[in-house]
Amino acid sequence: MEQTLSIIKPDAVAKNVVGKILSRFEDAGLRIAATRKMQLSQADAEAFYAVHAERPFFKDLVEFMISGPVVVTVLEGDNAMAKNRDLMGATNPKEAEAGTIRADFAESIDANAVHGSDSVENATNEINFFFAQKEIC
Ligand code: CMP
Repeated sequence: MEQTLSIIKPDAVAKNVVGKILSRFEDAGLRIAATRKMQLSQADAEAFYAVHAERPFFKDLVEFMISGPVVVTVLEGDNAMAKNRDLMGATNPKEAEAGTIRADFAESIDANAVHGSDSVENATNEINFFFAQKEIC
């Protein structure tokens, strides 16, 4: 069964829509195999987004991701990575299709409510970044 990583970002946690977002995953047939609310440190955020270190938005991205708690979740199901990306909608909420999480809950490309792994290989790395194997069940 395929797994992917979701992060509910500080803007959506602050809006108190964690339950609504997790319900969208479950309603689409994805199973929550692990989940945790946590406060990322600057080192955590820089390491998680290291692939974007040279991008002009990196500093703002790290600052935003440590501005409040996040909810990290392992989602499991058929085509979990692609299914999660369909549920999220486009990175920029202004371009996100109606009914997607970002269209409904996000404000801007920085405060865009959720992150989801963009490949099955990255999903494995991102899941291992946050969770021990015994926490995924
Ligand atoms: P996420 O899926 O978490 O991956 C990296 C994040 O960087 C992305 O969502 C956006 O929130 C943020 N970001 C800010 N500006 C850009 C940009 N121009 N292109 C892609 N991502 C951006």
